[in-house]
Amino acid sequence: MPFPRFHRLLTAGLMSAALLAAPVLAAEAPLPRMVTQDGRHALLVDGKPFLILGAQVNNSSNYPAALPSVWPAMKEVGANTVQVPIAWEQIEPVEGQFDFSFVDHLLEQARANNVRLIPLWFATWKNNGPNYAPAWVKLNNDRFPRVVEAKGIIRNSLSPHGKETLAADSKAFAALMRHLKKVDPQRTVIMVQVQNEVGTYGAIRDHGSEAQKLFNGPVPAELVKAMKKRSGTWAAVFGKDADEFFHAWHIGRFVDQVAMAGQQEYDLPMYVNAALRDPFNEQDPYTYSAGGPTWNVLEIWKAAAPHIDFLAPDIYMDGYAPYTRTLEQYGRPDNALMVAEMGSKPVYARYLFAVLGRQGIGFSPFGLDYTGYANAPLGAEKITPETLAPFSLAYRAVTPLADLIAERSLKGKVWGGAEPEAVHAEQIALGEAPWKAELSYGMGQFGMGDAPGNPTPKGGAVIIEMAKNEYLVTGVHVRVDFQSTRDGHGRIFDRVEEGRFVDGAWVMDRVWNGDQTDYGLNLTDRAQVLRVTLGTYPTKVE
Ligand code: DGJ
Repeated sequence: MPFPRFHRLLTAGLMSAALLAAPVLAAEAPLPRMVTQDGRHALLVDGKPFLILGAQVNNSSNYPAALPSVWPAMKEVGANTVQVPIAWEQIEPVEGQFDFSFVDHLLEQARANNVRLIPLWFATWKNNGPNYAPAWVKLNNDRFPRVVEAKGIIRNSLSPHGKETLAADSKAFAALMRHLKKVDPQRTVIMVQVQNEVGTYGAIRDHGSEAQKLFNGPVPAELVKAMKKRSGTWAAVFGKDADEFFHAWHIGRFVDQVAMAGQQEYDLPMYVNAALRDPFNEQDPYTYSAGGPTWNVLEIWKAAAPHIDFLAPDIYMDGYAPYTRTLEQYGRPDNALMVAEMGSKPVYARYLFAVLGRQGIGFSPFGLDYTGYANAPLGAEKITPETLAPFSLAYRAVTPLADLIAERSLKGKVWGGAEPEAVHAEQIALGEAPWKAELSYGMGQFGMGDAPGNPTPKGGAVIIEMAKNEYLVTGVHVRVDFQSTRDGHGRIFDRVEEGRFVDGAWVMDRVWNGDQTDYGLNLTDRAQVLRVTLGTYPTKVE
C-alpha cells in the first residue's frame, strides 16, 4: 500500500527538523509544496501561493552549450519558471557513477537569470520510449525488458513490470533529488516532473510473461476499493477497459515508486505530464500513449500514484473547444490544473486567461528557445522574438498580478476567459457577487455593437475580486465590461484606476473615464492593470 501524501508531510517535518541541526551555507527557504483547500489548489513557493508563468526549452537544450540560446528567449517571453530536461543518460552514463555538473551549471544560471526551475526527469519514459535512458539500460533488453504487444511484437517502450528497471530508475532519481537537496537550499527548483509522457504507443499493455501472470490474477484490493468495484480478475472487473486500465495502473505504480524514492531524499512537489487522447471521442488505444494519465484513466492514476501531486495535460490542440475541454478534464477538486506543455503557435498565448479562469496554477508553452529548432506543424515555424510576442504580452499583462492571482484563486476569487473562434462575447458570473463580467472581442474601442471577434483569436482577460465591488482587471485584445445581476440596478464605474504595484502597494497612474470607460474597458496590447470599483444607480423610479 503506498504512503498517502500526509505521511510524506510528517516525514518532511522530521527531516527539516534534522536539517536545522546541520550546518547550511545559504539561507534555507521553506520547501515548496502543494496545498488544497475546498477543492482548490495552490503551489506554495517561499511559503506563499505562486503562479507558474512558465516556458519549456527544447528537448536537447539540456547541455551547457545550449543555455546561451535559452536565457534570451526566457527573458523575451518573461517566464518566471523554466522547465529543463535532466536526462538519466547525462547523470548516470555509467551505472553507479553520477555526474551532476549540468544540474549545478543550470542552477547557477537560472539564479543569475532570476527564474525558478522545474527539472523534467527524462528516464524510463520520454514520449513512451527509453531514448533518454543510458546506453547500459536501453541496449539491454534482457535486464530492462520492453513492452510486448498482443501479437508478440516488441515495442520501444520499457515494461512497467521490469523490476530492475524500477530499481535502477528509482536509484538514479533518488540520487538526483539528494543532490538537489544539497545544492539548492534557495529552492530555485520548485517542483519536478517525473518522466515525460509515459505510456506506450502501439500496444495497450505488456503481454510479456510477468505481465500475463498479473493480468490473469486479481485486481489489487486498493484499486478495487478506489473504483468502487467488486474484486475479480482484470477482465472480470473492467471488461473492455481491462487492458488499458491494467497498463495505466502498473505505469502509475512504477512512477509512484520512483517519485517516492526521490521524495524520501528531498520532498518536493511532483507531477506527471500526459500525452492526450481525443478529449471528446473514444480513440483506439493503439493510436495514443496508452497507460499514460489520459482523461479516461485519471481515477486509476489517482489510486496508483498518491505521491504524484497532480496529472498535467500537454495540449497540442489549438482549437478552443478541445483546449478548454482538456482544462475541464484535468482541473478537478482532486487535481490541480497546470498545462505542462502546449504548442508555441501564437494562438496558444491567449489560453493563459482560460487557464487562470479555471483556477490554474501554471501555464508553460513548449520549445521556447533560440537553439534553432521549432516543432512545426505542432508549434510555430520558427522561434523568434516575433513569434514569442503574444506570449510575452500575455505574461507582461499578468506578471504584476501573478502573486495575487495565485492567492485569490485559492479562495475562488479569480475569473477569466480566452477568445473562442466562433463566439465573440462571453459572460462570466463572478461567484456570489451580484456582478457578471462580459468579455468581448474585436470591436473598435469606441461605441457599441456586435463584437466581430479578432481576425485571428488572440484576446483574453482575468478578473480578480479584491473586496466587495472591487476588482483588478488585466487582459489583451479584449473589452471587459460588468453588469449588475440585480434587477433595476444599472452599472456605473465608480472609479477605474490604471496603475502598478510597487513593493506590494498599489500606485495609481491615472484614472480612466469618458471615452476610456463609456463602452467598457478596452485592453489592447499595452499590458495595463486596472483597479475597478463598481457601483449602481436605480434604473426605475420607485
Ligand atoms: C511532447 C513531449 O512531451 C515533448 O518533449 C516534445 O517531444 C513535444 N511533444 C514535441 O515537440
